[in-house]
Amino acid sequence: MYNSKPSLKPFNTLGIDVSAHNLIIARNLKDIISAWQISQQVNEPFIILGEGSNILFLENFNGSVVINSVKGIEINEHDTAWYLHVAAGENWHALVELTLIKGIYGLENLAFIPGKVGSAPIQNIGAYGVEFKNVCNYVEVLHLPTQQIVRLYREECQFGYRDSVFKHAMKRNYAIIAVGLCIKKRWKPVINYGDLVTLDPNTVCAKDIFKLIQYIRKNKFPNPSRIGNVGSFFKNPFITQELSDVLIEQWPSMPYYRHYYNNKIKLAAGWLIEQCHLKGYRVGGAAVYRKHALVIINQYKATSQDIIILAQEVRNKVGKKFNVWLEPEVRFIGAYGECDAVELIS
Ligand code: FAD
Ligand code: EPU
Repeated sequence: MYNSKPSLKPFNTLGIDVSAHNLIIARNLKDIISAWQISQQVNEPFIILGEGSNILFLENFNGSVVINSVKGIEINEHDTAWYLHVAAGENWHALVELTLIKGIYGLENLAFIPGKVGSAPIQNIGAYGVEFKNVCNYVEVLHLPTQQIVRLYREECQFGYRDSVFKHAMKRNYAIIAVGLCIKKRWKPVINYGDLVTLDPNTVCAKDIFKLIQYIRKNKFPNPSRIGNVGSFFKNPFITQELSDVLIEQWPSMPYYRHYYNNKIKLAAGWLIEQCHLKGYRVGGAAVYRKHALVIINQYKATSQDIIILAQEVRNKVGKKFNVWLEPEVRFIGAYGECDAVELIS
């Protein structure tokens, strides 16, 4: 389905009012391939989106935006695990709910994360002690220039904290078309993060975790259908042991975690921003959310410029106070494609 010069406001959860040359709702692979081929013929940029819950449009997009709406879920039961093959255009949270209804437990910690299934591997979505990589069997991608379909198994996806090969070597010319999940039948609750520790490991079930996470998230994140946002605007920063020693001495209440990926110290960006007294701070229509400092909201008709200036100020204030320089988690999309977000707010 083609739509010429459409507004992208309904297609990004920050609610930035920009337009594209074309908007294509792709219901099958042919739609994706033909949109890509047309954009090549007219020499215009092409971007594939899920629900736009992790992007900031900087300006009008001078090309085609393809919304991945390819659907389909296959579930296969084996002796020790469930194997799921899920098309990229399915909604992530709806998939989590479906598995719980079917008695397949293991995705509950990742409930209520907005976005499509095909976007989940890109930043290796994570919440409450679980990441996408924990359940990933494979990611299926379409190489657009050759129309070849390739399956990358978990070890090949280079998953890291909010990172994967799909943000690097496989960022351009590839569309994620499906994911394969492997969910072990022997279920073990993951309840060592934050308020989840209040649950009793002897009696807890997956639905208890789901409900508690629903409660926590409702109080922490604004609902994007009412208040525009992209969840955490910045990633949590990793710092060296030396810098953390200095900071902990000066700020004994500072939360920090030794991270298993790289043995560095991970800090809570929300805490750092709150210490700079930035909760509620506004630039134009953009503001730092009062209930969680890591969330930037579109309070009232914010422009991308408002958001960039606000992000710049947040980064500068935190940097000057702690010598820790925050990097956006959200992807910045300019007229011709992705831009360097750190450079833009430095
Ligand atoms: P989009 O924003 O549409 O796209 C993101 C990027 O992926 C873009 O660069 C796009 O071009 C690319 N892309 C999308 N689909 C494809 C495809 N099929 N093939 C190739 N490239 C593609 N994230 C977490 O990890 N944990 C959380 O707890 C969390 N909580 C959130 C809470 C709120 C309220 C909000 C608004 C966001 C939250 N997020 C969280 C961020 C966001 O939900 C995730 O990053 C999500 O995976 C983005 O999905 P999407 O479909 O909206 O991706
Ligand atoms: N904190 C403050 N002030 C604030 C916000 C947080 O002091 O305004 C402190 C909290 O008290 C806590 C610490 O910071 O001690 C961590 O806060 P929280 O548990 O809310 O998690 P987070 O680090 O801010 C990360 C992810 C979220 C994910 C949650 C739960 C990143 C960038 N964000 O947030 O993911 O849902 O943990 O696992 O890693 C996202 O990526 O968009 C996202 C929402």
